[in-house]
Amino acid sequence: MDFNKELGRRKTFGIISHPDAGKTTLTEKLLLFGGAIQTAGAVKSNKIKKSATSDFMEIEKQRGISVATSVMAFEYRGLKVNILDTPGHEDFAEDTYRTLTAVDSVIVVIDVAKGVERQTEKLVKVCKMRDTPIIVFINKMDRSGKDAIDLLDEIEEKLGLNVRPLSWPISMGPSFKGVYNMYEKELNLFSPHGKQSEDETIVFEDLSHPDLEKYIGEFADELREEVEMIEGVYPKFDRQDYLDSKISPVFFGSAVNNFGVKELLDCFVEIAPSPLPRETDERMIVPTENKFTGFVFKIHANIDPRHRDRIAFLRICSGLFERNKNYHHVRQGKKIKFSNPTSFMAEKKSIVDYAFPGDIVGLYDSGNFVIGDALSEGEKIHFKGIPSFSPEQFRYVNNKNPMKSKQFKKGLQQLMDEGVAQLFTKQFNNRIIIGTVGALQFEVIQYRLEHEYGALCDYEPVSLYKACWVSSEDDVALRDFCRKRQQDMAVDSKGKIVFLASSQYILNMIKEQYPKIVFHTKSEY
Ligand code: G4P
Repeated sequence: MDFNKELGRRKTFGIISHPDAGKTTLTEKLLLFGGAIQTAGAVKSNKIKKSATSDFMEIEKQRGISVATSVMAFEYRGLKVNILDTPGHEDFAEDTYRTLTAVDSVIVVIDVAKGVERQTEKLVKVCKMRDTPIIVFINKMDRSGKDAIDLLDEIEEKLGLNVRPLSWPISMGPSFKGVYNMYEKELNLFSPHGKQSEDETIVFEDLSHPDLEKYIGEFADELREEVEMIEGVYPKFDRQDYLDSKISPVFFGSAVNNFGVKELLDCFVEIAPSPLPRETDERMIVPTENKFTGFVFKIHANIDPRHRDRIAFLRICSGLFERNKNYHHVRQGKKIKFSNPTSFMAEKKSIVDYAFPGDIVGLYDSGNFVIGDALSEGEKIHFKGIPSFSPEQFRYVNNKNPMKSKQFKKGLQQLMDEGVAQLFTKQFNNRIIIGTVGALQFEVIQYRLEHEYGALCDYEPVSLYKACWVSSEDDVALRDFCRKRQQDMAVDSKGKIVFLASSQYILNMIKEQYPKIVFHTKSEY
């Protein structure tokens, strides 16, 4: 086993999109190319139907599916590709943010008709915070949509990405002819629901050649003009610029028709980064280091309530991970070993003896882990980049059965460890506020507290706009602020101080009143 070779052949990435843009379809087509699945429809959508806001049974069902689809690995052209799944539903955006800390690059899927949507904007923002290299795939070219140039402008404007098309569409909708692949200098002709076999790809170095008319008829001149324009207007594609997140290549295609997907995959495996270094509070961890390090980015509770164990998903950052070897659990300061670490190959789970940087292993856990935990061979490291964001919805949570207060506390704690929501304890009356990104989580918590822990809870409205983590270089000023605003202060589950702002107006006023205090909308600052 050649460690460096194994490391070099890993590509770990995530696909992100606004719901319905085609993420599941694209994932499935990539898995088909990788031979990881044999039939279409094998990847269950982890989508929660829009109408299901109050149907938490649906969520339970989805939890089962999303364990299976958390990591989908496959081999392609000698490389090991790990796709990390991200929940489509925006109420679970926090889960997606955390998963993004474990990838080395992303593919953003955009629906040609809808353009850049809200969720795409949010997710790309998170990727940009961490300089994650981004490839854009514009999907559903078989449908009429926005003009390609306008769409690129929209992407630049709304997502703040510098784009560089590597393929260019020839018309769209009913008259969609295919794409010209500028990277490979090939013409790929579209046939609906085609398998896109070799014959439909024609090497075409020189677009001025009259044969172009033979293939795409009246669209030939338009293509010539547009490609010339693109070569003139957009910067040349440079892999290093992409790796440095300075430029995002763009592809066009139709996932459901399996069109443009192979070009995307071929280019992806060529240009996407191998496992990248990871920052810790102490130092940069480089994947080639001999010693193993890794962090937990996701925890999944068992869907069977009789078995309380959970799966912690570990991203390996450096060194070789070995089964049954003792590792150091940094937060708990204790040794821990794993007798059945699990890897995921599309639908199949199997126990692994070794795993390499870039790989994700599932660790069976009976409550040892919280999100962000680090494992090492002894070094005390704390990985950066797994912040919590200020929630958007808040409610007081009450224990409805005083006989079950232990279960209530334990259940809440464990659900928070899993990252289902955030918990804030008000300092002056000890009341507990739960903050979430979406309304669905309140029902998830209520349901799971009852079914997994036997505890009953109810909620009371609380009018809050944001929870801001506060800091100051001036300790006295911070103490003074906390004392004066005692009624609005709380601590999060890690003991960090938080200011609860009831409105944007109040927040602005307080910021002016206390210039020495810094207000953060994420827990890492
Ligand atoms: P998501 O994971 O991003 O939420 O999207 P998903 O892949 O589930 O796709 C959403 C819908 O868009 C699906 O249709 C899917 O078939 C369709 N779709 C995906 N790619 C293309 C494409 O290239 N062209 C066209 N025209 N449609 C595409 P649905 O009706 O919601 O579901 P289904 O019944 O087809 O599964």
